Amino acid sequence: MRPTLPLLLILAALAIPARAAGLGDERVLGEPLSAAQAAALPPDALVTRGRDLFLAKFTSLDGAGRPAATGAIVPTAAQPDVLPLFFRTAGADSNACRGCHNDPEPGGAGEFVANAFVSEGFQDADFDTVDPQFSNERGTPALHGSGLVELLAREMTRDLRAQRRAAAARARTEGRDVTVDLSSKGVSFGALTVGADGFVDLSALDGVDQDLIVRPFSQKGVFVSLRQFTVNALNAHHGMQAAERFGARYTDADDFDGDGVSNELAEGDVTALVAFQATLPVPAQAGDLGRDTFESLGCGACHVPALPLESAVFTEPNPFNPAGNLRAAEAPVVALPLDVSGLRRDDRGRVLVPLFSDLKRHRIADAERPHYANELLSQRFVDRDIFLTPRLWGVGGTAPYGHRGDLTTLHEAIVHHGGEATESRRAYEALAEPDRRRVIAFLQSLRFGGSAP
Ligand code: HEC
Ligand code: HEC
Repeated sequence: MRPTLPLLLILAALAIPARAAGLGDERVLGEPLSAAQAAALPPDALVTRGRDLFLAKFTSLDGAGRPAATGAIVPTAAQPDVLPLFFRTAGADSNACRGCHNDPEPGGAGEFVANAFVSEGFQDADFDTVDPQFSNERGTPALHGSGLVELLAREMTRDLRAQRRAAAARARTEGRDVTVDLSSKGVSFGALTVGADGFVDLSALDGVDQDLIVRPFSQKGVFVSLRQFTVNALNAHHGMQAAERFGARYTDADDFDGDGVSNELAEGDVTALVAFQATLPVPAQAGDLGRDTFESLGCGACHVPALPLESAVFTEPNPFNPAGNLRAAEAPVVALPLDVSGLRRDDRGRVLVPLFSDLKRHRIADAERPHYANELLSQRFVDRDIFLTPRLWGVGGTAPYGHRGDLTTLHEAIVHHGGEATESRRAYEALAEPDRRRVIAFLQSLRFGGSAP
């Protein structure tokens, strides 16, 4: 039998090593993988390649470092060679993704020493400071289950946009102002009003951006996809510039960061990194002790125990990716069925994703409880005291806590809740000691497969 064209493509792609293997070769990257080659790989091979890349300690020969570019998300030139290759605050700050995401395994969380300093990119050694005036210091979250999280956010975005479309159609046909409540999967995102003249009033939106795109990544909730975050992280942490954003197509330069290496990360390799992260297993739940107390306190209003997902097939790229990231029309779509065999389903057959979050932003600090308002820079127009509800799955294994990773116990993380969580925090504080312990025990029972109890 003659091999078919798809089979030949798969065999050709399988032959492309993710890691340089030559004796005495100090590059870690092997041959680049194109988007078409990534789409031709069997899912397992793509995930393995992504894992290799997540673990790889990039070298200067691969393009690590960015002497002529800042860590900013939008390609931004820096005066060349002002900063050394490694620089703790401005980056490059580490060698591999795993350098920070390592607890309890690659793709996991990071402890305080693995914090990152998030800024629009320093260009000057005078900013060699962890002073919060210049950057927001963030702890490293675990990436487990993040494929399901991205899928949930896409479905929520579609729901909210369909509600806006329906309101606009009604306003047009009925010739009057129409107000709709926006909600998806039981989570309310406020309301919007479409005027008879087509004008849209967005002032009553709650916890989501004006474009109605649910952005589930970063603790601020401002990034749409694993891919967008990965392209940011590659540049910021490692000075590894993905061609899809820093290459000739957007910057007119094939070596934007001026380190002598062009096209440092190919589209298919970014896809492989995404595939590894998207398929990291969902954290398990060890038991139900204390769950009733957790729920009676109203914690689940934000830390929603489970959100229902229609389809658990992860497709890459995300249809809502902004320019500068591979977009759906630009490459063959990669489809990865996620493993949901251990998860329950609702009566409509939807997978119940036990993430303990509503994927919504909330005001979480106030004058009475100011701790979580400890950042001085607002990010992407989101106020300083507003954060995305963190997923609590796995939280029993990912100390320290809080967006800065500066709280050593779950109890501290809870008592610093202010703003919209005030009532539920007070209810927690009013509990008798044995009941409080039940809440903590419940949180401790939310763990990753690999971590010891
Ligand atoms: C220096 C430590 C560090 C390194 C290295 C690092 N990260 Fe992260 N990562 C973080 C921190 C800190 C955050 C939280 C950022 C925030 O909330 O703004 C994060 C967040 C993320 C997120 C968003 C997760 C979520 O649920 O919000 C993804 C995805 C991610 N990192 C992927 C990567 C990839 C891929 C690499 C390698 C290219 C990488 N990271 C390298 C520290 C690091
Ligand atoms: C109004 C929404 C809301 C309610 C209600 C709420 N939380 Fe949170 N929770 C958040 C947000 C937002 C954060 C992120 C705080 C930060 O780090 O900036 C958070 C953080 C946490 C963390 C730290 C997670 C980590 O990985 O660092 C824990 C633990 C937690 N909440 C438990 C609870 C418990 C227990 C309750 C009930 C007593 C509760 N929360 C009620 C929104 C809420």
